[in-house]
Amino acid sequence: MFTQRFRQLAPYVPGEQPRDRQYLKLNTNECPYPPAPKIAELLCRFDPSRLRLYPDPTMLGLREAIAARLGLTPEQVFTGNGSDEVLSFCFYAFFGADLGTLRFPTFTYSFYPVYCDFYDIPYEKVPLTEAFEVDLDALRGPGAAASGIIFANPNAPTGHFLPPARIAEMLNRFRSDRVVVVDEAYVDFGGESVLPLLDAHPNLLIVRTLSKSLALAGLRIGYALGHPALVEALFAVKDGFNSYPLDTLSQEIGTLALGEEVYYTGVAQRIMATRTRFAAALEELGWQVLPSRANFVFARRPGIPGRTVYEALKTEGILVRHFNPPEIADFVRITIGTDPQMDRLLATVARLWP
Ligand SMILES: Cc1ncc(COP(=O)(O)O)c(C=O)c1O
Repeated sequence: MFTQRFRQLAPYVPGEQPRDRQYLKLNTNECPYPPAPKIAELLCRFDPSRLRLYPDPTMLGLREAIAARLGLTPEQVFTGNGSDEVLSFCFYAFFGADLGTLRFPTFTYSFYPVYCDFYDIPYEKVPLTEAFEVDLDALRGPGAAASGIIFANPNAPTGHFLPPARIAEMLNRFRSDRVVVVDEAYVDFGGESVLPLLDAHPNLLIVRTLSKSLALAGLRIGYALGHPALVEALFAVKDGFNSYPLDTLSQEIGTLALGEEVYYTGVAQRIMATRTRFAAALEELGWQVLPSRANFVFARRPGIPGRTVYEALKTEGILVRHFNPPEIADFVRITIGTDPQMDRLLATVARLWP
């Protein structure tokens, strides 16, 4: 009854969203603060009869808002149902056996190998440096065989950030007829975008999301920025799959949210201040915390396996994320919440592992 393709499918396992009890959720990098207040007003005055009609398949209003905010044209912007969908379209359009082997870091967003398996894309995982940093030289590798490169910057789950100048050097040495995707899901938490590199590098595509810094993970909006030819390709994939990935309401809420810069800059600043304070306090307790420019930290307490930490905290009603591969198995990834939430975690950690 099931195809061989299906039987071989190894789906991505998202962070838990349990319903058995109230947890302090620090496991999926959601924003601890609410979306901009104007969104509540929009929802109150929204006329439900508008939902009779299909949404705009070109998502133009939203794309115009993104373009205006970033100094681009709408032709350089693609939008989709979460950056997960946008990424999957990128894998479909730009990477594949006929172009070579896709390269990405061993530890980066763990959905990338899932898309590779889904679309049958050969890939090579490139080890991080000893300091758990993305190794750009190794990623570029012997360029000729690459079907492309993808990595997150800041990276997940480490939080490590590469300055755009270093990425520019890599792009200058990499072949221009293969796409390089930089996933900037966490760029608003102290990173710096490679946006200024777009003009010089028509093979560069940036992918972003409204799920993290704009506190809209439940709405599902992601976008890609790049040369109009790449954006056009993403539209072709979309129209080969689902013409209407973003509903009317999402398009309007997203457009509004993108204009609320003052509110969201404040949210990001609060999260960054909490991250600095939390990381220092955790280090005081004897933990190693990797430097992070994201809304999470990757941390370990030497001598205590990450799974033990994860399980003990879960028993205490606090969820963090643990990954099984041996090289990172003694770490946990902890999303930065509000100050009181992080204080609760610190008090629990101090009690469990004095
Ligand atoms: C690096 C990275 N990219 C993309 C995503 C997907 O985000 P979304 O599909 O909510 O836009 C995530 C989610 O955790 C992520 O960590």
